Amino acid sequence: MLEKDIQEVLFTPEQLNARVQEIAREIERDYAGQEIMLISVLRGSFIFMADLCRAIDLPCTLDFMAVSSYGKGTSSSGQVQITKDLSEDISGRHIIVVEDILDSGTTLSYLLKILEHRHPASIRLCTLLDKPERRVKPVKLHYCGFTIPDAFVVGYGLDYSERYRNLPYIGILKPAVYGG
Ligand code: IMP
Ligand code: MG
Repeated sequence: MLEKDIQEVLFTPEQLNARVQEIAREIERDYAGQEIMLISVLRGSFIFMADLCRAIDLPCTLDFMAVSSYGKGTSSSGQVQITKDLSEDISGRHIIVVEDILDSGTTLSYLLKILEHRHPASIRLCTLLDKPERRVKPVKLHYCGFTIPDAFVVGYGLDYSERYRNLPYIGILKPAVYGG
């Protein structure tokens, strides 16, 4: 039923799982002997977060925050607002921010600045997808699942207008769906 709106499947559930396992191994190597705190940026990263945290064999705590970048369209407006803040104090902790997709970089450059002011011991960024062609604000990326071309993608947590998050794969949305 949802498939009719998908132009092309980019990553199957098997490919996503394999890449999540590889990222988990990188994180285990980089943080060996340390405790980490994963911060999921809601809502797009919730499935990636759930899979990634179960793949990481390290002491780990989790927290969630939500930001809105004003708009229901296919690109963020440039203004970012925290709609749900963290529950935990991050000072002195090793933070990994878990995002679904890095696009213009507006959301994450803002978010990372806010989190840095709270004095974590370290902070790194892990994104499932990266669309470097669309970058407006430079963002330092430590862990990246896949680099993708400039197309609007949905599934595995990513939405268009809150729909398609429940697709088990990542696919390019047919431009006709958003009038593109
Ligand atoms: P940025 O601030 O432009 O980097 O936008 C980041 C946010 O825009 C992501 O966290 C997503 O919520 C959303 N976004 C950007 N590109 C896509 C896409 O292709 N599909 C779904 N959401 C996207
Ligand atoms: Mg998002």
